Amino acid sequence: MKISVIGAGYVGLTTAACLAQIGHDVFCGEKDPEKLARLRSGKLPIFEPHLDTVIDAACKAGRLRFGSTEEAVEWGVAIFICVGTPPLPNGDADLHAIEAVASIIAKRATGYRLIVEKSTVPVQTGAQLRRHLGGHRTRSLDYDVASNPEFLREGTSVEDFLHPDRIVVGVESARAADMLREIYHPIIDQRIACPLHADCPPRKAPRFLVTDTNSSELIKHASNSFLAMKISFINMVSDLCEAAGADINKVAEGIGLDPRIGPSFLQPGIGFGGFCFPKDLQAFVRIAEKFGCDFTLLKEVERINQKRVDLMVEKIKTELWVLRGKKLCVLGLAFKPNTDDIRFAPALSIIRRLQTEGAQIQAYDPKAMDRAMQEIPDITYCQNVYEAAQNAAAVVLLTEWKEFQNLDWERLSGLVDRPLIIDGRNCLSRDVVASHGFEYVGLGGISAAAQIPAAVVNG
Ligand code: UGA
Repeated sequence: MKISVIGAGYVGLTTAACLAQIGHDVFCGEKDPEKLARLRSGKLPIFEPHLDTVIDAACKAGRLRFGSTEEAVEWGVAIFICVGTPPLPNGDADLHAIEAVASIIAKRATGYRLIVEKSTVPVQTGAQLRRHLGGHRTRSLDYDVASNPEFLREGTSVEDFLHPDRIVVGVESARAADMLREIYHPIIDQRIACPLHADCPPRKAPRFLVTDTNSSELIKHASNSFLAMKISFINMVSDLCEAAGADINKVAEGIGLDPRIGPSFLQPGIGFGGFCFPKDLQAFVRIAEKFGCDFTLLKEVERINQKRVDLMVEKIKTELWVLRGKKLCVLGLAFKPNTDDIRFAPALSIIRRLQTEGAQIQAYDPKAMDRAMQEIPDITYCQNVYEAAQNAAAVVLLTEWKEFQNLDWERLSGLVDRPLIIDGRNCLSRDVVASHGFEYVGLGGISAAAQIPAAVVNG
């Protein structure tokens, strides 16, 4: 099918690439000329695992091209809107980019078009979109509006697109439902040339859930808010474990064994970040308020999350006493591993606070340093972990990149001023680092003093 994708952010690019991968003829429209030029020259504006190879293959096969929004709108019989919906100062989602795309569609599209909102939007946006198109369209445009929220995690978005648990579509006509089923058919049947796994094992077919547009829009916001709630919940339990002398890793494992709860999103840490959870949570609270529903529960989720930064800074101060003039080795800047995204990254908030206390930051992140330099230019960016550790009073881990879990602890202990690790993600093995002479401070009661080598104990 001829499909247009509007917006070349991580959702738009993943959607365009994967729809081309499963055999569609895709045109991706982007309004930023600089980004467009980069894409046309084969360069991606973001780091997202596997996306470059899938895009490259699709372009070479002639199934994916990039151009202006106007060109894209004229191309596809289905038009996926994947533009940003950033937060306004009052927490509402800013929908002006969606309206702008709708105006272009109304003016330029002819014949029948299925207009699919994939951007995260408040409930009833589909209805507004329908009204806007109705009021501005040329006579020859016939259309359906559908909602098809994305559940793509940064860092695994290609995998999430091609091997999803569910595909949710919100429609108001059988025609729209049928078209969406046809578009996703190869994924529903899991009959895809999988670019990720050489011997892709047979997968369970995802559930194709058809709802009305309002329900589909709500599913997206409710899903993200629920996951955020789970994280704030485990973070509170983590604090309780620490105060009461229990072990959060064991407690989370014990809770997660209940299939009604499940083990995922029970990892305590310095709080959720990124461009989805914080903004979607705020937007969902605002939406509820507009409809007269008091969602104070979610306000608490947000408050608890913001407190995680204070907690981490206090933890560091407790361990190091005075921070002024001390060098700190900070590992990880991105809001989570496998991405270069630093938007709402708790690591950046923590670094800023440490700087105001007078600490000197020596930071390393495998992918996010270029972006971080734009936000925080006045820290030392290092080539690797070992450079960042030189003469540091502590190693502070803020993003759980896999490579941080397999460091040469022996080498590291010879570089630092004091062998102390403060693990803001509880991702290191306390026993492993302690066996190399490090004092380990984690969250939720996971700490250990350095093991004294047997030779010393025995005199
Ligand atoms: C999230 C959702 O998981 C996706 O389903 C959704 O499509 C996406 O938002 C979106 O709305 O676009 P993402 O923000 O990429 O995806 O990242 P997650 O893996 O969900 O993590 C979000 C934050 O929660 C990260 O800062 C992560 O470190 C934190 N987190 C996650 C925890 O602190 N503990 C956990 O147990 C899990």
